[in-house]
Amino acid sequence: MLRLRTFLQQHCDNAELIDVIDQLAVTCKDIAHQLTLGDLAGILGSAEQENVQGECQKKLDVIANDLLKDSLAALPAVRGIASEEEPDPVACNKNGAYLVLFDPLDGSSNIDINVTVGTIFSILAAPEGSHGSDEAAYLQPGNQQVAAGYVLYGPSTIMMLTTGNGVYSFTLDTRMGEFLLMKENIQVPAATAEFAINMSNQRFWLPEMQQYVDDLLKGETGPLGKRYNMRWVAAMVAEIHRILTRGGIFLYPFDNRDPAKPGKLRLMYEANPMSMLMEQAGGRCSTASEAIMAIQPQGIHQRVSVVMGSAEEVSIVEQYHH
Ligand code: AHG
Ligand code: MN
Ligand code: MN
Repeated sequence: MLRLRTFLQQHCDNAELIDVIDQLAVTCKDIAHQLTLGDLAGILGSAEQENVQGECQKKLDVIANDLLKDSLAALPAVRGIASEEEPDPVACNKNGAYLVLFDPLDGSSNIDINVTVGTIFSILAAPEGSHGSDEAAYLQPGNQQVAAGYVLYGPSTIMMLTTGNGVYSFTLDTRMGEFLLMKENIQVPAATAEFAINMSNQRFWLPEMQQYVDDLLKGETGPLGKRYNMRWVAAMVAEIHRILTRGGIFLYPFDNRDPAKPGKLRLMYEANPMSMLMEQAGGRCSTASEAIMAIQPQGIHQRVSVVMGSAEEVSIVEQYHH
């Protein structure tokens, strides 16, 4: 079985990019190890502080963020990093070719209950002459990503990766400490009858989204003519992994709970990298009215409405919004 680094050497002609992805893998192994130890390592619970977005940080949000920040900063290929848990981008090495953006720990509310979480990453080329602390350098639409992926910490630790040429999965063999290639050219079925949405927000959605979900709940005798099944893990990384594995649709749409936060998920750390994976696997990604990866970002912590997964189902949601 092919080791991640060997795979990268065969599939990627850029040595610096190989270093960045390899370093992400090494660090995520470390995070996986901490997660396995859990309470034994004293890593559960709250960090008793808030991040820049006003969210209460868990200890592991901070630990994962620091591990990724420190290990990437040490790499000559990295010009700068931006993280969900950092107020501003952090400059690393001035000649580095890449900017790395990440959600160090996705699904934080699952940490303390020993349920799946993940790390999501997006890699951009550093613009000519840009500085790693310069926010404008990072504000590139998702369709300019060089690579994207996530590491899912579940019963096994899995990396899902794209460098713009299909989606590949690697499973961490903890006996030898290596990610090994398991699946190539992963494809998402075009049709599905499985959806993932936090239904408790229904009354806050746009009327078009409420109508779509009302209709799908009517099942085979309703306008959509199918009996749907629902899943909600409360970690985007786990929902997207399920969809990349067996199809489905994931939605975290705009809602009016808090006017300052139209949409919960972050464009740069969550929506864009997952969109690149999803589209590389033949799925579709949308805000319900426009393509996620075509959005010109206005700020690194920007939030966005997310509808992604099996192509036909995403198109149905868009039709409700036209
Ligand atoms: P994070 O832990 O990085 O803040 O992200 C959590 C996100 C996402 O992973 C998940 O889909 C969603 O929040 C869960 O939202 P609910 O709390 O509404 O279930
Ligand atoms: Mn997240
Ligand atoms: Mn997070």
